[in-house]
Amino acid sequence: MKEFKEIGIRNLKLEDSEVLKSLKKLGKLHKEFKDQDLLLKLFNSENKNIRYYSINNLAKLNNEKLLKKFEYFLKKEKTSYVRREIASAIGRLRSKKAIPIMKKLLEDSDPNIILQAVRGLLIFKDDDKIRKILEDLKDHQNEIVQKIINIEFFDNDEYLSKQHESPNYLQNCIAHGDVLKLLKKVNDESIHLTFTSPPYYNARDYSIYNSYQSYLEFLWKTFKEVHRITKEGRFLILNTSPIIIPRTGRKYSSIRYPIPFDIHSEMIKMGWEYVDDIVWLKPEPSAKNRVAGFNLHRKPLAYKPNCVTETLMVYRKKSNKLIDWIFKQYPKSIVDKSKVKDGYETSNVWKIDPSSDKNHSAVFPIKLCDKVINYYSFEGDLVFDPFAGSGSVGLSAIKNNRYFFLTEINKVYFDILIEKFKSNLFDDVKVGINQE
Ligand SMILES: C[S@@+](CC[C@H](N)C(=O)[O-])C[C@H]1O[C@@H](n2cnc3c(N)ncnc32)[C@H](O)[C@@H]1O
Repeated sequence: MKEFKEIGIRNLKLEDSEVLKSLKKLGKLHKEFKDQDLLLKLFNSENKNIRYYSINNLAKLNNEKLLKKFEYFLKKEKTSYVRREIASAIGRLRSKKAIPIMKKLLEDSDPNIILQAVRGLLIFKDDDKIRKILEDLKDHQNEIVQKIINIEFFDNDEYLSKQHESPNYLQNCIAHGDVLKLLKKVNDESIHLTFTSPPYYNARDYSIYNSYQSYLEFLWKTFKEVHRITKEGRFLILNTSPIIIPRTGRKYSSIRYPIPFDIHSEMIKMGWEYVDDIVWLKPEPSAKNRVAGFNLHRKPLAYKPNCVTETLMVYRKKSNKLIDWIFKQYPKSIVDKSKVKDGYETSNVWKIDPSSDKNHSAVFPIKLCDKVINYYSFEGDLVFDPFAGSGSVGLSAIKNNRYFFLTEINKVYFDILIEKFKSNLFDDVKVGINQE
C-alpha cells in the first residue's frame, strides 16, 4: 500500500497523510502515466480520502479499460463520498460502454450517485433513447435531479415579460382595501420586489383573525397572489417575528406563536425558493422586558429571554434561470447606476434601531427599507408593500429612485398615506387601482 514510483517512491513506508499529499498534487495525467497499478492498489486503503483521490486520479487517465474496475469499486465501496467520485469517474470516461452502468445508477438510493449518472448520460442527450430516459426524470423525487432535467430539456430561455418594465397603472399607486381583493385587479408578473411586514396575528388591533390557522391561511393566500404578480426570479422579503398573546388570566400562560417558522413550508410549496434569512437586531432596551420576573426568582424552566430580533426571510420566485439572465435584460446604464455602494451589510445580522410613528404602532425604519430596496432591486423597478401601514417602503422607494405600489386596509392609515405622499413628495400619486 505504501509504495510509490511516479507518485512518490516505491517500497517506502509512508504515512497516510504523505500518500494523500502526493495524490493531491498529481495534477494532469496522461495515458502513459506509469503508476496506474499503484492507484488501483491504493483503492484498497482503509482511508476513505486515499480511496477518493486514487479514483480521482484514475479518472484523469481517461482509460476506457478501467470501466470494469470502476464498476467493481462502486459495488464494494460503502461511503457516499467515494461512491460519488467513482460514479463521476464512470461518467467522465464519456464512453458508450458506460451507458448501461449509468442507466442502472439512476435507480441508486443515493441522490449523489443519481446526479452523477445524470451528468454522465447528458453527454449522450442527442441520442433519442437517452434523451427519453432523462426527460422521464422530470418529476423525480429528488428536487436537484428535477431542476437539472428542467434546465436541460424544458426550460424556455426566452424573455417572456420584459424584466425591467412595470405597468404604468401600478407605478406610485396607493390602493385602499383588502390586499386579496385588490390584487385580483393586478396582472401577472407586474412587480419586481415585495418588502413587507404582515399583521402580527392578533397582537395588535389593526386586524383580528378568528384563529391562528385562519391567520396563516390568509398570509398564504396573500403570498400566493404576490407570487403570481412577481416577475420571474425576483424577490420577496418577508419581515416577521414570533409573537406573544398575553395570558387571559392568572390560571393560564401566555402563548407564543412562531410565525416565521409556520409560514415557511407553505411558501416553498407555492413556488418561492428560500434564499436567506437575515436577522434584524435591535437594542435590548427597545424590547419588551421578559426577564424581570426571572431575574428575581432564577428558577430554571421559567427562563424567558428578551427578544431583540426580527427575521427577514428572503425568497425568490422559483426560476431555473440564473440571476445573470435578469441582468442581461436591463440596460447597462441601469445596472451601473444600481450598484450597491460601499458600507453595505456583509453579514446576515443587521443592527438597526427601531422607528416610531405617531400614527402607527409598527413601522419599518427607513434605513432597513433602504437596504432591502438597494440590495434586491434596480433603479426604476416597482416595489410593492401589501401591508403598507405608514408607507415606509414607499418613502424609501422614492428616495432610491424606484416606484412603489402600496395597499392598506385601514382607512385612517390610508388617508394619512395619501396625505403624506401627495403633500410632501409630489403630485404624481395614483389612488386606487385603475387599469384604464
Ligand atoms: C405590521 S403593519 C405594517 C407596517 C409597515 N411596514 C410600516 O412601515 O408602517 C401591517 C399593516 O397591514 C395592514 N393590513 C392588515 N390586513 C390587511 C389586509 N387584509 N389588506 C391590506 N392591509 C392590511 C394593517 O392595517 C397594518 O397597517
